[in-house]
Amino acid sequence: MLKIGVLASGRGSNLQSIIDSIEAGELQAEIKVVISDKEGAKALDRAAKYGIANKYINPKAYESKENFEQAMIDVLKKYGVELVVMAGFMRILSPYFVRYYRNRVMNIHPSLLPSFTGLHAQKQALDYGVKLAGCTVHFADEGMDTGPIILQAAVPVKDDDTEETLAKRILVEEHRIYPEAIRLFSEGRVEVKDGKVKIKNRE
Ligand code: GAR
Repeated sequence: MLKIGVLASGRGSNLQSIIDSIEAGELQAEIKVVISDKEGAKALDRAAKYGIANKYINPKAYESKENFEQAMIDVLKKYGVELVVMAGFMRILSPYFVRYYRNRVMNIHPSLLPSFTGLHAQKQALDYGVKLAGCTVHFADEGMDTGPIILQAAVPVKDDDTEETLAKRILVEEHRIYPEAIRLFSEGRVEVKDGKVKIKNRE
């Protein structure tokens, strides 16, 4: 069974969707540990509720980003994590971490990448006036919200949307495609070649 480690900074609704998929028997995987860079993050409470090991690692307690990331790697290794899942983890990983887990770190971002990277992606989409928005699951590389795209889902943008209403519509899709991407990975069906993902035996 695929051993997952989740990195999360906030409320953890994507973490919840992964937990729910596992509980429903749709995803054959085990969340071994949830790590947060924010003390008291709701994601940590969610993990605790399901008896999942959870750990706050304070970035400020380390003198460099590499040292902080090494502390995360040490925990991930301790739990035998095979796939790192960033679920609302609001930090850019250094090349050191990304190389360590090359094509084994997934991220979800609330835009149709490569558009609207970084913070407030939904507001960026509204400000631009795009008619389709959405979300992307991708392998993390050295950039910010970049790396081989695994799955995407689009939603319409409505004329009267606010950042909140659009974010909510996108979130429904996030909760659908993140567990799906992990399932494909767990089945060994996610192939990366020349920086692009191919899904084997796609229905
Ligand atoms: C999600 O919308 C996720 O796509 C976004 O943060 C939210 C976390 O929600 N991530 C990013 O913007 C990463 N660049 P959650 O904590 O409820 O899963």
